[in-house]
Amino acid sequence: MDEKELIKIARQVQPNAYVPYSHFSVGAALLTARQNVYTGVNVENSSYGLTVCAERNAVFKAISEGEKQFEAIAVAGSAEGFTYPCGACLQVLAEFNPDLKIIVCDRQNNIKVHSLRELLPQMFLL
Ligand code: THU
Repeated sequence: MDEKELIKIARQVQPNAYVPYSHFSVGAALLTARQNVYTGVNVENSSYGLTVCAERNAVFKAISEGEKQFEAIAVAGSAEGFTYPCGACLQVLAEFNPDLKIIVCDRQNNIKVHSLRELLPQMFLL
């Protein structure tokens, strides 16, 4: 599974996002060590603070299915430019792999690849 393929999967699920408030949809695709892919979309709520981002939904699906070794996550958002995971999602991802590969794209599907450590250098770990 290469970076472009993982972004393609994130793009495919992005329309499933439930975003009546922000109208900003995000799709995520999380690749596990067993080479399975778990997707997630953002799910908003009228009580805004209850919104869950696409990345965390993908992580929670994978954990729920018994997988917690993650290699990469791809994120596709509806912005013109690159959509990056928020700080809260980076912290949740760091729990499982501080060196996770993070693949982001812009609306033209140009791709950038980062490590989680690069985006959240002072992550909180016990
Ligand atoms: N959002 C995500 O799902 N992932 C990100 O990486 C950034 C933000 C969502 C949360 C909210 O539903 C909408 O985007 C606007 O903030």
